[in-house]
Amino acid sequence: MSKMITKKINDFFTYKNKILFVEDVSVIDISKRINTPFYIYSTASLRRRYTQLSKSLKNINHSLYFSVKSNSNLAVLRVLSLLGSGMDVVSGGEYLRAQKAGVPGDKIVFSGVGKTYDEIKLALSNGIRQFNVESIPEIKLINKIAANTGKKAPISIRVNPDVDAQTHEKIMTGKLENKFGIPINSALEVYRIASELNSIKIVGIDLHIGSQITDILPFETAFLKIANFIKKLREEGHFIDRVDIGGGLGISYSTKEKDPISIDKFSSMLDKTFNKMNLEIQLEPGRFISGNSGLLITSVVYLKEGTNKNFLIIDAGMNDLLRPAIYDAEHEILPVIEEKNNHNQIVADIVGPICESSDVFSKNTTLPKMTSGDFLAIYSAGAYGAVMSSEYNSRPLIPELIVNENLVSVVRSRPKIEDVIKRDQIPYWLR
Ligand code: LLP
Repeated sequence: MSKMITKKINDFFTYKNKILFVEDVSVIDISKRINTPFYIYSTASLRRRYTQLSKSLKNINHSLYFSVKSNSNLAVLRVLSLLGSGMDVVSGGEYLRAQKAGVPGDKIVFSGVGKTYDEIKLALSNGIRQFNVESIPEIKLINKIAANTGKKAPISIRVNPDVDAQTHEKIMTGKLENKFGIPINSALEVYRIASELNSIKIVGIDLHIGSQITDILPFETAFLKIANFIKKLREEGHFIDRVDIGGGLGISYSTKEKDPISIDKFSSMLDKTFNKMNLEIQLEPGRFISGNSGLLITSVVYLKEGTNKNFLIIDAGMNDLLRPAIYDAEHEILPVIEEKNNHNQIVADIVGPICESSDVFSKNTTLPKMTSGDFLAIYSAGAYGAVMSSEYNSRPLIPELIVNENLVSVVRSRPKIEDVIKRDQIPYWLR
């Protein structure tokens, strides 16, 4: 018997005899059973990322609320809820998903600028740890609904510290020109207004300056501003015993690079900034936990060789993974069978089948010459992948799978195109 050659990408994604494995499951074996494209997540990776973060924070009074918007698959939420994670939700739908995954209301925080009457009522009736509120009309509405149900609604006010997170402009949220939070200069007044409302209980303060942040400095600047502001609030007699610092920790989109921010350094910075303030520090990590825990598996439809340029057309499109098209994100693309045709390399743009010029995953990439049916894996696709997908070009949403050691399960199935079309109706007057 020949010896197995193993090459680790990390502990969860490995080439065994040149075939890509997710934990103990061969991607080739799955791709023979489930048509590409599909998402596949590693349970062990989700667990590792969560515990890595909670371990590095072990000396700090903290709690974690996984940001459901990054990956809302029930199986993913269940893995994290079994580890004791709370959830950060931004809609009634996400609230119900968190609940279905087994998360109790007192471990759910509700963020978002546009919570509706129905959403607030749902959360208040079923239980909520806190609403992270962002405007006076919202506070007043929460107060009214709480009064009607005879409850006191726990709120934290999201403050906009006016700090540039130095990330892509479309995912930066902590500058005054962004719609998020109450500007730090007028937040004191908003605390005053909220404290006069009978059915509101102020429990803390909240901020979130952006996502995919790769430098610790903007975090530190923002947290210092908030720490000083908390002192001011306490002097005014407000009760603040929690600070929710949001999410935003960046990850690497390449198998060759480590996380851009060391979480141990991040934890010591947190400890130092909020030192002896007697606060519970809440975090809302999304991408840090889910991002590197998932792949998007796709296959080559055609290699279109041209005089000016070559295009490798794959069966995943911008409707399945929107990030490259809207944030110029570059996800590393890996072959599922390593070194196939390695001697015969080409330079090509890797593109999807959607009729838009922005449907590009990678430009001028040098890769082994591939042919129709060859499989590829798009790395770091576990966050803001499946959740942002659409049926554009009438392509049904793609399946999601999850692996646990040698077990693999489909955790969202591919709808039949007939069922997708059936949701539309031709009105009687057009028949
Ligand atoms: N908390 C709040 C209030 C948020 O708005 C977000 C993300 C998070 C937590 C989680 O942030 P994370 O830890 O995942 O960075 N679609 C974009 C990202 C949008 C992030 C929106 N808010 C992308 O694909 O890069």
